[in-house]
Order: sequence, then C-alpha cells, then structure tokens
Amino acid sequence: MNKMLEEALILYEPLIRKKELTFRIHLQEIPKVAGEASKFQQVVVNVLSNAIKAIEIGKALSIDTKASQEGMVQVRIVDTGKGMDPATLSQIGTPFFTTKEHGTGLGMMSCEQIIEEAGGRLQVNSELEERTTVDFFLPQADRIIEVSNA
Ligand SMILES: Nc1ncnc2c1ncn2[C@@H]1O[C@H](COP(=O)(O)OP(=O)(O)OP(=O)(O)O)[C@@H](O)[C@H]1O
Ligand SMILES: [Mg+2]
Repeated sequence: MNKMLEEALILYEPLIRKKELTFRIHLQEIPKVAGEASKFQQVVVNVLSNAIKAIEIGKALSIDTKASQEGMVQVRIVDTGKGMDPATLSQIGTPFFTTKEHGTGLGMMSCEQIIEEAGGRLQVNSELEERTTVDFFLPQADRIIEVSNA
C-alpha cells in the first residue's frame, strides 16, 4: 500500500509543484492489505485528483497511512481546499453527482465500490471553505505462517 501510494504521488508531483502546495506525507509501516493494488491505486488517483482540483495555490495536502484498530489499515487524504457544504457532502458518491463542468460524478462512487468490495469502508468529512478529509479503511491481508517439518 505504501509503495503504491508513493507511485501514485510521482504522477502528481508536477501538479503539486505547480500549485505550490504544502505537501506532507507520512507513511507508517503498515501491514499488507488484501486485494488488487491496481484498484487501490485507482482510488488514490481519484481522491487525489479531487483534492488537487479543490485546492488553491499555497494550500495544504497530506496523506497519512497507519495500522488502525481491529486489523484494518487506514489511509487518510486531507486537503485544505474549498470543502463542501452538508448538502453537497451528502450527495458525494451518488452516481453522476458532480459540480464540475466536465466531471462524470462517478469518481467517488467507484472509489466506494472498490473499497467496499475489498471489505473496507470509505468515509468523507468536509467543512466548507476549510478542508476535506477522505479516510479509507482496508482489512489487513491474512498472515499465514506455516511450519513444515518435512
Ligand atoms: N476534495 C474535495 N473537495 C471539495 N469537493 C469535492 C472533493 N472531492 C469531491 N468533491 C465534490 O464531489 C463531487 C463528486 O466527486 P466525484 O469524484 O465523484 O466526481 P467528479 O470529480 O465531479 O467527476 P470525475 O471524478 O469524473 O472528474 C465533485 O464534483 C465535487 O463537487
Ligand atoms: Mg473526481
């Protein structure tokens, strides 16, 4: 998961520089998660592209990962962008809900689908003109340790 995040970030580095964002990333040593890396990468790319679109020059973006409670891994992406009012927030993840001229409104819906299919959950919190926090929790991969006497 951390490796995949770092890869996704390389993609966004030019944009982050262009917008002069303060960018902080804190990746804790986390256990492996079960599931397809390419799907989780899609989630991260979606969430980051929303965050970068919502943000103005000089604001902050951060990514944190940590091993959270009960065998879950938590990824938190925070932007201090334009945020959402409660009405907008309540519609996020609804198919075709978009406030963008060229948006499909499918981004967050597919993120939610991918995370839920992997047995996790996705949570969005936002305060208008303040910040948006996207958290997703994914179950750790099972660790199977075999001791063979053969
Ligand atoms: N980080 C964010 N800050 C503020 N608003 C956001 C953020 N992320 C999502 N939104 C709001 O939620 C809406 C839906 O997001 P979603 O990713 O599902 O679709 P979209 O970004 O509009 O379209 P697409 O993903 O196809 O570009 C956005 O149009 C925007 O209004
Ligand atoms: Mg989007």
